[in-house]
Amino acid sequence: MLFDTHAHYDDEAFDADRDALLTALPDCGVGLVIDPGCDLTSSRRAVELAAAYPHVYAAVGIHPENCGGCTDDDLAALRPLAQQPKVVAIGEIGLDYYWEENPPREFQQQVFRRQLALARELQLPVIVHDREAHADTLSIVREFPDVTGVFHCFSGSPEMAQELLKLGWYLGFDGPVTYKNARRAPEVAAVTPLDRMLIETDSPYMTPVPYRGKRCDSGMIAATAARIAEIRGMSAETLLGRGEGRRAGGDGSPHHGERQAPVPHFLTTGQKRTRTPCVQVLFIVVSDAQHSLAPAGTLSSMSIRCSFSSPCSRWTAEISMPQLGMPIILRGGRFRMAMAVLPMSCSGS
Ligand code: NI
Repeated sequence: MLFDTHAHYDDEAFDADRDALLTALPDCGVGLVIDPGCDLTSSRRAVELAAAYPHVYAAVGIHPENCGGCTDDDLAALRPLAQQPKVVAIGEIGLDYYWEENPPREFQQQVFRRQLALARELQLPVIVHDREAHADTLSIVREFPDVTGVFHCFSGSPEMAQELLKLGWYLGFDGPVTYKNARRAPEVAAVTPLDRMLIETDSPYMTPVPYRGKRCDSGMIAATAARIAEIRGMSAETLLGRGEGRRAGGDGSPHHGERQAPVPHFLTTGQKRTRTPCVQVLFIVVSDAQHSLAPAGTLSSMSIRCSFSSPCSRWTAEISMPQLGMPIILRGGRFRMAMAVLPMSCSGS
C-alpha cells in the first residue's frame, strides 16, 4: 500500500468524479493521501475531504502563487484550520520565482516565514514548494531549525539535497523524475536515502510517464515509484518494501542497506512478534503526544513499539496500528522529525 503524500483532490479538476476516485483509491493500492491546501478556500476544502474519507488527511496553507493580497486575517484564519482533526501539516507553502506574475519575492518570503512560524507554534511539519527559489528557500527554512517536513517535488541540486537531509528534511519526488529531459531529480533520487524520500503525485498536475497528457491521480504514483526503482537499480517491489529481506532485527537493530527495508531507521521492537503484513506506509510524525492520525472506530489494534534516530534527534513512539497499517495512532514521545516512513516489516516468525 502506498501513501501519496501530495495530491490536490480539492482541485476543480476532480469535480466530476472526485468521490468515485477517492473511494476507489485503496483498491488501486493507494491507502493514504495528504491533500495540501493552496489558499484558504482550498485548505478548508482539504479539511472537509479529510473529514469525509478515512484515508485522506489534510494540510493547510497558502501557496506562494496564491499569496498575493494575503492579509493578517488570512494568516490568522489558518490557525484554527490547522487545529482541525486530520490536519497533519502546514502546506503547501514556500517560494515560487518561476512565474513572473507571481506576487513580489519579498512578499512571498514574508508569507512563507509567517507560515513557518505557525508550524513551529503548532509543532506541525511543513510541505514546502520551492520553484526557482532554492537559495532563498533554504536560507529561510534555516531560520526555523525546529521546523522540518518535506521539500515537495524537489528540484534543487544534489548539494542542496545533502544540506536539507542534514537539517532533517525529507525530499519529495513526483512525476518529473520520470520525464525524459529530467536531469536533477533523477540525480538526487539516485542518492537520497530511501528513508528520507517521499514519493508523491501532486495530482492533478505533473502526470508521470507513461500517462502524460492525462490528468494525474494518485493511482499513477506506481509509475513514479517504478522509475525511482529503475534509477536505483532495484525492483519496484524492493523499493516499496515488498521484496525479500524485510525483517527487523530481533534485537531491534535495523538492517541497513537498500536490499532491506526502505526505511532502515524504523525498528519494530515489540515484545510480541505479531505477524504483520508487508506494506509500506509513509506517515507524518507530529510533535504532540495527543495527535492522532486515526479515524474513530478502528479495528482491533496491534501495538508496536518503535524508535527512530535521526541526525538531529532521537525519539520513540508507541504506535497502534489497526489492520494493514491503515490508520495510525501516535502516542507518547516527543517527535522532531516531520515525516517518516513506516515499513511494516514482515516480522512474523
Ligand atoms: Ni502541490
